[in-house]
Amino acid sequence: MNTTIFEVLQTYDYEQLVFCQEKELGLQAIIAIHDTTLGPAAGGVRVLPYASEQEAIDDVLRLARGMTYKGALAGVNLGGGKCVVRADPLSMKSEALLRALGRFIQRLGGLYIAGEDVGTNAHDMEMIGLETPHVFSLPVEEEVAHFTAFGVMQAIRACLQSVYGSTELHGRTFTVQGTGAVGSQVIKHLLENGAVVTATDTDRDKLDRLVAASPGLLTSTPEDIHMLPVDIYCPCALGAVLNERTLPELHCQIVCGAANNQLADEHCGDLLAQTGIVYAPDYLVNAGGMIAYAESRHPQGFRRQRALAHVSRIADTLERVFAIAREQAIPTYRAADWLAEQRIASVRQAKTLATAP
Ligand code: NAI
Repeated sequence: MNTTIFEVLQTYDYEQLVFCQEKELGLQAIIAIHDTTLGPAAGGVRVLPYASEQEAIDDVLRLARGMTYKGALAGVNLGGGKCVVRADPLSMKSEALLRALGRFIQRLGGLYIAGEDVGTNAHDMEMIGLETPHVFSLPVEEEVAHFTAFGVMQAIRACLQSVYGSTELHGRTFTVQGTGAVGSQVIKHLLENGAVVTATDTDRDKLDRLVAASPGLLTSTPEDIHMLPVDIYCPCALGAVLNERTLPELHCQIVCGAANNQLADEHCGDLLAQTGIVYAPDYLVNAGGMIAYAESRHPQGFRRQRALAHVSRIADTLERVFAIAREQAIPTYRAADWLAEQRIASVRQAKTLATAP
């Protein structure tokens, strides 16, 4: 049975799905606005050569909904949205294309705010920003991955406290999958604090460069990294790394990392909980970047210390998620969803009351 787009929008209560095209430039973009109860829909612009229109629609809808939950648990006044552009970022991305996208974003009047994502960078945001103010940008000296990595470290410490009764990193063992912008900073912090770290990356040169600059860093292969017996497995590369194949092979006590959509599906979240391995929900762990973006819209301007203080609250929220999971005997990913939905419902109710005659 074929599901219509409206049926999908109804199932997860999306507000808007906007198709944008400009023939001359070959621009085909889709903007999904999932929920703006908490504030304008925030989400990155993903530029990928999607094989089909359906694949692009599925991706933008899934990602926009995830952003709603991320904003809700991060305690920011941002809703969930996303934009996907069906294009090869290397050959098709141009100033003209990005500015055309910026004009479409401008037409939404601030309902959607664009940020960086796979296939886009800070320079692309500047191009979009030539056409619209509805684009996130941090001060030039700041890097969004820094805030994400800082948040991952707060979450790791909360996990250690929950499982071992201490946040001490010294002597604890870690595997880090992916040594990119976030993974490399997490590794640096772990090593500086005396942890034993094994890392991997599919980009062998990148991994070799990191090893050369990081005394004591151990390495493994991308195929084996999730199987190593460690305290914490920290996925910082791809999504769906917690799937029916990998779950029986895990030998860690905790999974806590930056990668988006680590669980292949909800069933895997349930299976993981049954193993007794503690799972820190990804969209809570990796919210540091979104918090920094929210800070960039603060009426007093961006303040680094205030942003870091807000990011450090990820640890408190994670502790609440663990407590709810224990009390209700549910997997942690369900506890996180529940807490996010509670915040959205309470803000929605407060807004309704405020506008009641
Ligand atoms: P990145 O692109 O800088 O680094 C990812 C690294 O993973 C690359 O070095 C890549 O070669 C490696 N990789 C790819 N497939 C791999 C595999 N199968 N095994 C091992 N390594 C593999 O990305 P970044 O920014 O560090 O982000 C990492 C993850 O965190 C992504 O899932 C991203 O969506 C998520 N995230 C990042 C945020 C940020 O602020 N950069 C914010 C929120 C989430």
